[in-house]
Amino acid sequence: MITVRVPLGDRSYEVLVGPGVRSLLAEKLPLGVRRVAVVTSEEINVDVSPGVPAEVVLVPPGEESKSLATVEELCRRFARFGLTRSDAVVAVGGGLITDVAGFAAAVYHRGVRAVFVPTSLLAQIDAAIGGKTGVNLPEGKNLVGAFWQPSAVLCDTETLESLPEREFLSGKGEMAKYHFLGGAGLDGLPLVERIARCVEIKARFVAEDEREGGGRALLNYGHTLAHALEVTSGFGLRHGEAVAIGLIFAAEVAHGLGRIDRARVEEHYRVVSSYKLLSRLPEDAKAEELLALFRRDKKAVEGLTMVLDGPGGLELVQGIPDKILTESLESIR
Ligand code: GLY
Repeated sequence: MITVRVPLGDRSYEVLVGPGVRSLLAEKLPLGVRRVAVVTSEEINVDVSPGVPAEVVLVPPGEESKSLATVEELCRRFARFGLTRSDAVVAVGGGLITDVAGFAAAVYHRGVRAVFVPTSLLAQIDAAIGGKTGVNLPEGKNLVGAFWQPSAVLCDTETLESLPEREFLSGKGEMAKYHFLGGAGLDGLPLVERIARCVEIKARFVAEDEREGGGRALLNYGHTLAHALEVTSGFGLRHGEAVAIGLIFAAEVAHGLGRIDRARVEEHYRVVSSYKLLSRLPEDAKAEELLALFRRDKKAVEGLTMVLDGPGGLELVQGIPDKILTESLESIR
């Protein structure tokens, strides 16, 4: 088992990574907790033993559940169960569950403590770490939420064994991203160490910039094209699969701007293909449509802002001209 600390003053917490770590739930509950609400989903099918009276609340599967209506339902269930301010919410599931249960914990009784047991690779290395919680509105994804740090995160790698292959692949897209955020050599590590190293990298960015006033935005490397591809594919591409193509695109844009050499672009291709992820645009992707979505995503007035690689590492680069974006899209067809 590997323990990673997320250092945030009196809100610091530990992330435990390894096979079977969910069995430590009872001892990792915050002091004073007398009962817990376990928020999970039927399809997750991961048992936990909190060691105190627990009420299991099931969230129906699917992105439609990531809504304010679900948060209301969760809070009403907490209230009927008699969950008090000194109790806790335990979220067991992928990013959808930790996002929605974490947000319900942030607002119920103006904030109760939360412990996350992320069961997907994506949630273990990204969604469950760093305190971003929230839900969607019909107007857009993640438009309502709160920064609410958990009290502990238990990344049990046993839960990944039953993860559908495509979900695992999606997590690998986020993993590929960490190679360029200080994770060179990640691919040589065994899985548990690799997950812990990703958590460590994320923890560093979160500790330096919890509320994304600056450096935390670098965690969005590869996400400009990824978000647009998720929309144009009607979410047919999983998030991490889209991030992988987004990393290649970002490398081509950086090369087009003279920020990195061809060898560094090839390094992006090598990392993405080492995870058996696609590095090319889907055949039916239309450049005009993608450019329009980039503009909408970033509300760019003159040129786009993206996280790009460069001589000093990743940074936010403004004013990227459409010509470079179009050429880079063509180069990854
Ligand atoms: N997923 C990006 C972040 O947590 O900041």
